[in-house]
Amino acid sequence: MNNFDKIVNLCKNRGFVFPGSDIYDGLANTWDYGPVGVELKNNIKRAWWKKFVQESHNSFGVDADIFMNSRVWDASGHTASFSDPKMDCKSCKTRHRADNLIEAHAKGKVNPDLMSNEEMEKYIAEHKVACPKCGKSEWTNIRNFNLMFSTSRGVTDDSQNLIYLRPETAQGEFVNFLNVQRSMRAKVPFGIAQIGKAFRNEVTPGNFIFRTIEFEQMEHQWFCKADTSMDFYEEYKKRAMDFLLDLGFNHEHLRYHDHDKLAHYAKAACDIQYQYPIGWEELNGIHHRGDWDLSRHQEYSGKSMFYLDPYTNEKYVPNVIEYSIGCDRLTLAVLCEAYEEQTLEGGDTRVVMHFHPAVAPYKVAILPLQKNLSDKANEVYTKLAKHFMVTYDEAGSIGKRYRRQDEIGTPMCVTIDFDTLENNTVTVRDRDTMEQIRLPIEELVDYVSKKVVF
Ligand code: GAP
Repeated sequence: MNNFDKIVNLCKNRGFVFPGSDIYDGLANTWDYGPVGVELKNNIKRAWWKKFVQESHNSFGVDADIFMNSRVWDASGHTASFSDPKMDCKSCKTRHRADNLIEAHAKGKVNPDLMSNEEMEKYIAEHKVACPKCGKSEWTNIRNFNLMFSTSRGVTDDSQNLIYLRPETAQGEFVNFLNVQRSMRAKVPFGIAQIGKAFRNEVTPGNFIFRTIEFEQMEHQWFCKADTSMDFYEEYKKRAMDFLLDLGFNHEHLRYHDHDKLAHYAKAACDIQYQYPIGWEELNGIHHRGDWDLSRHQEYSGKSMFYLDPYTNEKYVPNVIEYSIGCDRLTLAVLCEAYEEQTLEGGDTRVVMHFHPAVAPYKVAILPLQKNLSDKANEVYTKLAKHFMVTYDEAGSIGKRYRRQDEIGTPMCVTIDFDTLENNTVTVRDRDTMEQIRLPIEELVDYVSKKVVF
């Protein structure tokens, strides 16, 4: 079994992530977070918010509605062109993205992003690119399928009532530019951040939570003046990388990937890629979008998006530097980065998840050495649970209990023994070094607090 399959198995068996609609044999590209996974994901979201809102001077959070006026998607360009070039295999009737077929076939020798639909069709025909399902090479022409999920509002099912599940959170930030600027008396440059669900009708293989049809994005738009925008673009590239390094990623597993093909309005764009067990893949994007978004909303809504600089009296539509990262894709990267199979002295093995303590699902596990110590153990549990997510385990040998905690990445195990009853001290075992120290119970909250800061 390769590491990716082992991580997917661990996720299912240890309560991180379950297949969606599991008892009905699932639904493609949907996954449910379990009790341990939801803690991990919430902690990742908190860590991101802390860096990009709390500690970020002049950045403000919003939580916009998933449903938006359909004209938003006309203005953003999603109605007209948010589509994938798809082809059907005439033999087995499966549907595939033409660019993915070329990418897999050419192994980096050509870049389908730079090709038109006609050029992709020609390449696939000339190279007899095979269907990954049945191996035949009998393709329909490319058709562009819009990735937005639509539904209708109200009681009638006509196109007047068509609304979309948002395919990105960014538009909620753009349409609130004026609201945030006025209500917070914000001065350009300033940022608007949001964490929320987005939906895309993806048909390509999802690779677990890497690509799903419902996912969460963490997006930050930085509104600035054109002549300062390139500097901010570089700053956000660095901030995005620093956030990942702060989370404990090895820098060798991350790289910048500058885009060859830019949208007509974009001045620069790059991804940060992570070396997943499935290969180097996009983890997040940083895009210099010029004044395109606000100008388009000005055009479609008829509302002025001009900003009046109170110091210089200049009037202009700000440029935007967008930083966007998928929370689920980051959660997968955090899981892959944390995973280690270790051989210990004496030949024993353990699987350990080396999560940064700030994002670890549980900070502490309370382990009474024997069941008759459970009253004291519960007392310690209650005390710590007021401050952190704490778990409790009294089943099995202490060695097995340590292994279970290592597998869900609990940074500290607190053991209650008979000395605890005598002198109110406990043993604290470190997940990574497995070293143990003795501490008075009254010092525990302070001790753990210092370890879990992000
Ligand atoms: N507002 C810009 C935007 O949405 P994007 O590159 O389409 O840009 C940003 O998406 C990020 O969202 C990606 O870098 C990725 O982390 C995440 N993402 C996109 N599609 C996804 C999907 N189907 N499943 C999981 N994450 C996805």
